[in-house]
Amino acid sequence: MTSHLTRRATLALAAFALAGSAHAQSGEKLKVGLMLPYSGTYTALGVAIENGFKLYVDEQGGKLAGREIEYFKVDDESDPAKATENVNKLIKRDKVDVIVGTVHSGVAMAMARAAKESNTLLIVPNAGSDAVTGPMCAPNIFRSSFSNWQSSYGMGVVAARQEKKKTAMTITWKYAAGEEMTNAFKEGFEKEGGKVTKQVTLPFPNVEFQALLTEIAAAKPDAVFAFFAGGGAVKFVKDYAAAGLNKTVPLYGSGFLTDGTLEAQGDAAQGILTTLHYADDLAVPKDKAFRTAYAKAFKLQPDVYGVQGYDAAQILRVGLDAVKGDVGKKPEFAAAVEKARFDSPRGTFTMSKSHNPVQDIYLRKVDGKENKVVGVASKALSDPARGCKN
Ligand code: PHB
Repeated sequence: MTSHLTRRATLALAAFALAGSAHAQSGEKLKVGLMLPYSGTYTALGVAIENGFKLYVDEQGGKLAGREIEYFKVDDESDPAKATENVNKLIKRDKVDVIVGTVHSGVAMAMARAAKESNTLLIVPNAGSDAVTGPMCAPNIFRSSFSNWQSSYGMGVVAARQEKKKTAMTITWKYAAGEEMTNAFKEGFEKEGGKVTKQVTLPFPNVEFQALLTEIAAAKPDAVFAFFAGGGAVKFVKDYAAAGLNKTVPLYGSGFLTDGTLEAQGDAAQGILTTLHYADDLAVPKDKAFRTAYAKAFKLQPDVYGVQGYDAAQILRVGLDAVKGDVGKKPEFAAAVEKARFDSPRGTFTMSKSHNPVQDIYLRKVDGKENKVVGVASKALSDPARGCKN
């Protein structure tokens, strides 16, 4: 009985393996599901990620591991309430081989749950939710961007140690990304002897900042740390300056506050210090080539989101090459990605065991239309991956 069952299992496994490699050899297209915000405050971020991803694929002659790509797109509207239904359109209806998404941490957590349950490959090209490469980490889940903790911890250290600030307030949208970034800032700031006196929030994606700005003006902390991104970041930075606060209370942020936004923020953003794994004037040859190619292809200046999309495709290529295009071979795919060094526009990075980039975090200062590097806040910073059992 046992041997009969074992034989059947072995045969089934062999048939499964054959079907997998047959996909690759028959030249069947690789189905890539892009689940990104194509409406709302994060629209520009979704578009930049898609641009970056497609730029990398085009540089490979339109194929990855010999397979042409077929794209399936879903607008997730940055709405966690619709996330499970949206990701299942890609998993169950379109039967994609890999999902690339998304920007919003709340949506990404639902995607990670669905990817884990269905054992679908997921590459997260932005959302920093600490849980995705923490308690929810999995062999089939990868991130090409950052963890929320990673983006903001160093800013706290710099604000206390270098900028000599003693007290700070934080302001953000009340959801995972904002909470995790402002808490990471607090962790770094207080470790160096500073004190976060108050953490204020408003619901995502509201942009009625006035009451909170009035509260900051009255409290007069030495500094403010903010996380906002996309359209919301443009409005926040302009409102902060319009209230005159940029003259009295220095504003710091994770780099999303000023990335892909400077054209619209103009004078209001000048001089703002932020931390991020990318900047506009890196002395990285790969970056020079990337920026030229991106600007030529899309008639747009690249930003961190374009880089993350580009590197999501790069991670996919490395994994697929190792399994000759057969996405069924998840452990071999993961092993190749874990061993690789990625030649990214941000500089070289590797993947941690929890599948989050181990990368330099730059200190940047807004100067004209650029986030210019003024130092390295943390060298080869790894996310602590609290709760990951990979
Ligand atoms: C997130 O929700 O994780 C998020 C969104 C936009 C950003 C960064 C992080 O720019």
